[in-house]
Amino acid sequence: MEIITSVADLRSKVSALKGQGLSVGLVPTMGALHRGHISLVDRARQDNDIVVVSVFVNPTQFNNKKDLETYPRTAEADASLLRQAGADIMFMPSVEEIYPEPDTRVFPLGPVAEVMEGAMRPGHFNGVAQIVSKLFDMVRPTRAYFGEKDFQQIAVIRKMAELEGFDIEIVDCPICRHDDGLAMSSRNVRLTPEQRAVAPAIHRTLAASTEWASDHTLEETKKFVIDELNSFPHMEVEYYEIVDPLTMQPISDWGAPHTLPAVGCVTVYCGEVRLIDNIKYNK
Ligand code: PAJ
Repeated sequence: MEIITSVADLRSKVSALKGQGLSVGLVPTMGALHRGHISLVDRARQDNDIVVVSVFVNPTQFNNKKDLETYPRTAEADASLLRQAGADIMFMPSVEEIYPEPDTRVFPLGPVAEVMEGAMRPGHFNGVAQIVSKLFDMVRPTRAYFGEKDFQQIAVIRKMAELEGFDIEIVDCPICRHDDGLAMSSRNVRLTPEQRAVAPAIHRTLAASTEWASDHTLEETKKFVIDELNSFPHMEVEYYEIVDPLTMQPISDWGAPHTLPAVGCVTVYCGEVRLIDNIKYNK
């Protein structure tokens, strides 16, 4: 595996490989890699001749300075995981390399970026669009891989790709979980042992709500999830919305017209740590 830190080197290396007719899969990450990230690398490995993984903690998508400062950085462990997973190129640029001058672009992402994470984290999705558009432009991959853990992010990236005219296949990959059901996340390491012990209730509750939904209204199902999660120590729900999986717009009742399956998206503060998760309903 080659570790590349400059944009010019990345561009010339990848364009030489593509010149040989090789397909390229791109997996964008912010590092602190875990099995969830590696599942994306594995999928990219199956589908493509060359796998490029970017590791870059993108400052423009953090609307909270403390979250940026405390974001875990584990470059050496990341490199060894990526080597084991068979990545060909690890792209690990500095902030100056990516943003030699401030990126002032504002993407007209529309309704997909206005609800949920978009409403709670102003500027977050614009920052995601900035970095991912730069990576798409540098690598021009055949395919790019994203996890369904960040369900709304995938819709935002599809919208950005459409706006910018990128001809790149966006591949969504299932959520990878710990044995107790907690979705893997780089932020989990910041949970105290007590918080880590209650955090699996998030997935347990979402899973239970899919049964509850069979004989309850959508409003009752939402209330069940929110009340149940708030009853645990350390946990506080920021939002729970059941949305159309394409438009990200909340659905008012099960009978309302929407694309199947409806997806429930939750953000929970577990102590100071903001955790997200989601579940598909059979509705
Ligand atoms: P990051 O949080 O590092 O996640 C990188 C990719 O890994 C994302 O597509 C995310 O959805 C996926 N991922 C994280 N945890 C996962 C899990 N448990 N199961 C499956 N996939 C998982 O998302 C970002 O970085 C950034 O916003 C980025 C797209 C890299 C732009 O900076």
